Amino acid sequence: MTAKIEILLHEPVATINPNIYGHFAEHLGGCIDGGFWVGEQSKIPNVGGLRSDVVEALKKLKPPVIRWPGGCFADDYHWQDGIGPRAERPKRVNIHWGNTIEPNEFGTHEFMAFCRAVGAEPYFCGNVGSGTPHELRDWVEYCNLPGGSTWSERRAQNGSPEPFRVKYWAVGNESWGCGGSFTPEEYATEYRRFSVFMRNYGDTPLALVACGPSGNDPDWTRRFFTQLQDHLQAPWYKLPIYGFAAHYYAGQAGTATEYTGAEWYRLLWQAQQMEKLVVEQRALMDEFDPQREIGLIVDEWGSWHPPTPGYENRALWQQNTLRDGLLAALTLDIFNRHADKVIMGNIAQTVNVLQAMILTEGDQMLLTPTYHVFDLYQTHQGAQSLRTVIETPDVHFTYNGEAQQLPGLMGAASLKDDLLTLTVVNPQIGTPVETEICLPDDISIQSIRETVLTDADIHAHNTLENPNAITLSAARELPVFGATIRHTFAAQSVTRLDIRL
Ligand code: AHR
Repeated sequence: MTAKIEILLHEPVATINPNIYGHFAEHLGGCIDGGFWVGEQSKIPNVGGLRSDVVEALKKLKPPVIRWPGGCFADDYHWQDGIGPRAERPKRVNIHWGNTIEPNEFGTHEFMAFCRAVGAEPYFCGNVGSGTPHELRDWVEYCNLPGGSTWSERRAQNGSPEPFRVKYWAVGNESWGCGGSFTPEEYATEYRRFSVFMRNYGDTPLALVACGPSGNDPDWTRRFFTQLQDHLQAPWYKLPIYGFAAHYYAGQAGTATEYTGAEWYRLLWQAQQMEKLVVEQRALMDEFDPQREIGLIVDEWGSWHPPTPGYENRALWQQNTLRDGLLAALTLDIFNRHADKVIMGNIAQTVNVLQAMILTEGDQMLLTPTYHVFDLYQTHQGAQSLRTVIETPDVHFTYNGEAQQLPGLMGAASLKDDLLTLTVVNPQIGTPVETEICLPDDISIQSIRETVLTDADIHAHNTLENPNAITLSAARELPVFGATIRHTFAAQSVTRLDIRL
């Protein structure tokens, strides 16, 4: 099979917001408990209760932003439960995730410490479903007011005289479902009521995020913005909407580790539907926001496989294979290509839950293929996205008797200084793709390096016994012949080419 990739170096799309490479962490299963947090008394090495191996591994990914405390959990979370001496914090029932007991040991200060340790910005999700505007405005004040009020003094007493400077705040989560079961009109009313009491303090302007649709639901978006139109037009007494956040998961194609070839393609096909979501949602948003002041966010995405037998006590725990790695790569490339609209993405969820970067078991941990993709894609963060045209025959497959197709190669290109990054996903099982990569004639290439994530086994994954079964290849120098590159993309692979100009 042959293909052609044309990188239009003189057609920049926009700067890729590093937040596209964001993460999400919820009080659910082993994400916080045993993932981020083991507590100061634990035998597992930790700094102030934060798990050291997880912190070190995540730090290497340069995570730009982490969304917390949920998810569904956020709309039943009362932030005051998670401050002050840990021994005095109330224990609550986590009604969304198995009625487990939430000890509230990991609260605002612990999350902030985690963000600081890994170098990420915090993104808080406010409680709209069961909270009040008062409670949310107090949380903002507690975090961001430099001093002088009772809440800011309480923050100082609790160990942080400096404000936390939390910029990103979501006004609810999945308000169409677990976040309150609102209609779009009802949620628009709640959005106005909650956001109107949120304030910028000190040197921290807030970036407010409104709850978007479940998947690519046009009805939610249209009705929400219709109801909010006068608010959008007269924002003199309130903060503008920074982002509108959709959620989209791919799954139910085999299990996490057992799938046929058709199920491999089916999952990647589902992931590819993110492109349709972005294209259609942004077009809808343009109708209400023609100046494009509101960004599109996908603050939950990733694979959601059927439950893993034996892991009933660790809700939403799943293994992560090469297939998940390709899913992550093709999704990040969709966001890269739409860098002029997509301003944040948060894969669900960082550790031990759904499409995790890291899996822990007792004092051990492993890095997943998805971790390696996030590592590989780091050079796109903050680079200039470039229009890239890929010509290749589609892959045809049949799933449940239905004929479907998927592009034979997918990818994105970006430029930062003299480094041109091209990332390419070849989803084809057993079929390498010979490709001609064309740059404008006036460009001269100094060097090309290739790094690949692939394996002969499409089910390849890491285990505690074999934690490096699948990992990134060593970077390989490729020969340079003028402005056209001939390269063969390995079967079932993710590749990054670092092209020095
Ligand atoms: O990520 C798991 C759950 O998926 C989140 O809590 C919720 O927002 C979504 O439905």
